[in-house]
Parts: sequence; C-alpha cells; structure tokens
Amino acid sequence: MKIGILGAGMIGGTVGRLWAQAGHSVTFGVRHPERLRSMLSGLGGKAKAGSASDAVADADIVLAAIPFRAWPDVAAEIEAALGDKVLLDATVPDPPRDGAFGDAALARKEGVAFSVAPLLARAKLVRAFSTVMWTTLQSQAHRAGDRIGIPLAGDDEEAVALAALLVADAGFDPVVVGPLLQARRFDPGTEVFDSGMSGPQVRAALGVA
Ligand SMILES: NC(=O)c1ccc[n+]([C@@H]2O[C@H](COP(=O)([O-])OP(=O)(O)OC[C@H]3O[C@@H](n4cnc5c(N)ncnc54)[C@H](OP(=O)(O)O)[C@@H]3O)[C@@H](O)[C@H]2O)c1
Repeated sequence: MKIGILGAGMIGGTVGRLWAQAGHSVTFGVRHPERLRSMLSGLGGKAKAGSASDAVADADIVLAAIPFRAWPDVAAEIEAALGDKVLLDATVPDPPRDGAFGDAALARKEGVAFSVAPLLARAKLVRAFSTVMWTTLQSQAHRAGDRIGIPLAGDDEEAVALAALLVADAGFDPVVVGPLLQARRFDPGTEVFDSGMSGPQVRAALGVA
C-alpha cells in the first residue's frame, strides 16, 4: 500500500521502517524533509519525504505520529488532502509538553481521540500504535511466540480491518477493541497503556475476543 506517515520521529520512523521492510511504499510528512536524507537512504528506495500534505495526498492510508500539540495546525494543513481516507492515530497528549490542547484531551471522559476526531470529521479515524513505546516496537517486531499487542478502535469496520492488516505487517498482534469510544480503555493511565503486553495479555485485560 501507499502509506503516508505524519512525523518521522521515534514512532513514525520506527513504524515506517517496519512497513517499508514489509514492502509498502512510505511517504513521511514533516516540516523539514531535507533532514531525513540519511534515514531514507537506509530504506531501500521504499520511502520518501515531503510536507504533511504531500504525504497525505499520495497515500491510501495515513498514520499520524506527530506531537499532540501539533494537531490543530497539521489538521488544517491536511484536511482537504485527507478527505475521507483512513487515519491511524498514534498521538498521545503528554503534559505539560502538549499545552492546553493536550490537557483538555486528557480531561475528556470520552477519551483523547475525541479531541482529534472533530478536527478531521470526514476521516475514518482508528486509534493505533498509541500504547507501546517506540523502543519496544523497534526491538520486538516479528518476535517469536506471542507478539506485542496493538489495541485498535474505530467506528468504520473496514478501516479497523485495514489497520489490523498493517499492524500484522509491522510485526505485531492487532487487538480490535471496538468503536472509537472504546479507545479510552487504552488511553494514558489505563492498565494496557505503556505496559508492553502481548496480544493475548491485552485481550485478557480488555476482555475482548
Ligand atoms: N515515543 C513513543 O514511544 C510513543 C509511544 C506511543 C505514542 N507516542 C506518540 O506519538 C507521537 C509522536 O511521538 P514521537 O516520540 O515519535 O515524537 P518525535 O520523535 O518528537 O517526532 C515527532 C515528528 O513529528 C514531526 N512534526 C510534524 N509537525 C510537527 C509540529 N508541528 N511540531 C513538532 N513536530 C512536528 C517532526 O518532524 P519535523 O520537526 O521535521 O516536522 C518529527 O518527525 C506523539 O503524539 C507521542 O505522544 C509516542
């Protein structure tokens, strides 16, 4: 698939590398694409870099891996190019770094996803890759035995199914939790968040099949 990744840092860079290694074409969308030259040269021609709107325009599906506080600006930039595409959202508010926008998201009883969803109302939003530290993603992808679990939640079933395929391609165990409102069950502060749990452990913790 053609995958646009907003951000090429710890999460975007790690997951992008895993997808490129799985044969997907990746376009990173960042403010400084020229800084990614040496990283891209290690990805065997399967990845390139441009602006956020370049990455989205070219993509079948998009992963957001930007600082949470960047959402209002980035959403305004990509809204037209994104349209109703599938948007995997790994972003997490981290106080105090993410300011009032992050604090408001963490205070929402529906979960942090509901600070992002209204900014891109046409997109098919799926929470994905939001719970696991990048070092774990980097070192544990495709491991033998039970793979690391990646909980997924979104309202569009086809979008969630596509997200599950891409999680598996990256070397992890997709755990479909339910509609977007269920994503709050793996937000910061929950048992699953930043736990390093395997797929079966995530399923047991969240009571999903
Ligand atoms: N690190 C983890 O282990 C982890 C785990 C789960 C979830 N998350 C979440 O994933 C997201 C990304 O985290 P990360 O650790 O990968 O961050 P990071 O290493 O700081 O990378 C951020 C990326 O976003 C880009 N970016 C685009 N627009 C930006 C803007 N307006 N302001 C700042 N940077 C912008 C940066 O590139 P340019 O500066 O060139 O634009 C950079 O490539 C965060 O929301 C984080 O909470 C992180």
